[in-house]
Amino acid sequence: MKFGEHVPLAPLTTLGVGGKARFFIEAHSEEDVKAAIARARECGLPVLPLGGGSNLLVPDAGVDGVVVKVMMRDIACEEGGAETLLVAGAGASWETVVDTATSRGLFGIENLAGIPGTIGGAAVQNIGAYGAELAGVFAYADTVDAATGSSRRIARDEAAFGYRTSFFKNNRSHIVTRVALRLSTHASPNISYPDLLRAQEEGVSLTAPVDIAKAVRAIRARKFPKQAEEGSAGSFFKNPVISRELASALAERFPGMPQFPQPDGTVKVSLAWLLDRALSLKGFSKGNARLYEKHPLVIVARAGARAADIDALAKEVAELVRSATGIAIEREVETFGAR
Ligand code: EPU
Repeated sequence: MKFGEHVPLAPLTTLGVGGKARFFIEAHSEEDVKAAIARARECGLPVLPLGGGSNLLVPDAGVDGVVVKVMMRDIACEEGGAETLLVAGAGASWETVVDTATSRGLFGIENLAGIPGTIGGAAVQNIGAYGAELAGVFAYADTVDAATGSSRRIARDEAAFGYRTSFFKNNRSHIVTRVALRLSTHASPNISYPDLLRAQEEGVSLTAPVDIAKAVRAIRARKFPKQAEEGSAGSFFKNPVISRELASALAERFPGMPQFPQPDGTVKVSLAWLLDRALSLKGFSKGNARLYEKHPLVIVARAGARAADIDALAKEVAELVRSATGIAIEREVETFGAR
């Protein structure tokens, strides 16, 4: 277990901004996580779990807590007929998990290829892309409750998954240490998302899980900034879910606005489309932060950017959207330490 004080967090996040952790612990086992919890309790500070840092905004002032970087990275596959249970330490890189599954011909997470972060973060966030969500394959997660120090297995029916949310997101004292996914050898390609249909029309083979994962990575590479060049955290905002009445009124004002009716009668609308077509905000900037030209739901942080630049930009974008559409948008990216 590695321990440090005043450890810079920016290099541990994909946005690459923000200050230091008061205390920092690398946990290589569930026992390490428990030891970190005990330490935090002694100092009267919160425990802040960190995965791949791909959905986090670290404040410039840093965080006054015990940051626990989850380092358990083992991946095992338990085969059982048509189904395979993939069990991974929460710190395993999501891309490694996708590679492990697709190279064995397992279906279930190929549409989620190319997403940065860890499998633990993937469960907290219920990552989703190209018509699939983690919730679709989730079997269980093991957690340690920082409030009590005890271990608990959260099964699928307790995981309360929703759009970019879960039991783990809403119960932050539960630190995810292990995640199990139920994958299948049965061919079940899910290629109904427009970008994938387009790839298929262009002659890209979308039969095996590896092919689909490859196609998804190619699509993402065209839309998202390259991590080596500029920092980002994927979609910075969630797509808004609004009333049917507001959606109809907006569709009249903004012809062609994509709408996705939800089972409960609400409508999910595309914020990228609104930022681009209704508000012309591609490239809109504040300090060293801007809305990415190829996908305005993404905030990119140029070298030298501060968390304050990103925060100011996000606030201004939210205000512009509110005054133009009446929609109160929500962030997908979380501010570290803000509860
Ligand atoms: N669009 C524009 N202009 C643009 C970009 C997109 O008009 O510059 C339009 C597209 O034509 C499309 C719509 O906006 O009609 C939606 O775009 P896209 O298909 O790229 O999906 P998204 O809703 O913007 C969501 C997820 C992404 C995920 C993609 C693909 C959220 C917040 N974002 O983006 O997830 O990769 O779908 O499934 O739900 C993430 O959560 O970090 C993330 C990257």
